[in-house]
Amino acid sequence: MSELEHRTPVEIAGLAADDPHLAPSARNPHVVERVIALTFIAGLILIVGFGYCYWVNAAPWTLGATMGAGLLLLGVGLVAWGKYLMPRGPFVEQRHTLANDEATRDAFAAAIVERGGGVIKRRKMLGGLLGGGLGAFGVVAIFPLLRSLGPLPKDTLFHTDWRKGSYLVDQDGRRVHSGDLAVGSILTVYPEGTQDTERGQAVDQTVLIRLSNENFTTQKGRETWGPMGYVAYSKLCTHLGCPVGLYEQQLQLLVCPCHQSMFNVTNGAIPNFGPAPRPLPQLPLYVDASGYLRAQSDYHTPVGPGFWERS
Ligand code: FES
Repeated sequence: MSELEHRTPVEIAGLAADDPHLAPSARNPHVVERVIALTFIAGLILIVGFGYCYWVNAAPWTLGATMGAGLLLLGVGLVAWGKYLMPRGPFVEQRHTLANDEATRDAFAAAIVERGGGVIKRRKMLGGLLGGGLGAFGVVAIFPLLRSLGPLPKDTLFHTDWRKGSYLVDQDGRRVHSGDLAVGSILTVYPEGTQDTERGQAVDQTVLIRLSNENFTTQKGRETWGPMGYVAYSKLCTHLGCPVGLYEQQLQLLVCPCHQSMFNVTNGAIPNFGPAPRPLPQLPLYVDASGYLRAQSDYHTPVGPGFWERS
């Protein structure tokens, strides 16, 4: 027979509360409990913040900072909970059943709650906070999946914002006149109204080069595309999409600064050096009655790296 069977429930509860192996190791468990609760709350807020940052497409460093700090705080709180609030042990399991009747067990539980009840409440609250933090983590973890479900790009990768009649404008939105560029000059242009947009900066950017004062034909079938010596090519490199902004005027080559692909602007920007697999798409131009440069249409082939071409 166990020696505990000779003791009253209150005495047993007293034993549990006074046993150094069963007591929390922290000197002041209430203070530790509040500190741990604060770390869980802060971790929860940071993980929710990560979800918000991901949803609004915030800067990458904010994603790393919020997720990293949130998980760190949850981990710190969990370790502190185990280290300072849990009974220290060692624990010895009784080899036979301690059969107490219902009244005895109720009295025992009441005594435990009375003498060390804060521990039970504490664990419920901390468990709730920890569960909330991990639940929020689980919810934000599926954000990438949700965002990748749509919308479908459809044919947007095959088109830009250039349209029939689009004015060519510079970075400041000023329309380009046929008398603006001297022979040998180069200018980055956009379809009017997109120069300040993310998409304009990404797929619409175009290099305008003046090769001569006469109409210039780069390839058969493009006899009308280069009025007054102006030719225009997509600025997105067909290798990996870097901006092809360097112009070697003497050799009439556009050079990509990333891997040194070179495009001959006089023959349709066919690459003659480097890893670019295909020419830069050429934008058909015309000069309107007021002398402004405008697009005849969108590009006839997709701009940018080769994989965008796959259908
Ligand atoms: S991105 Fe232009 S050569 Fe690689």
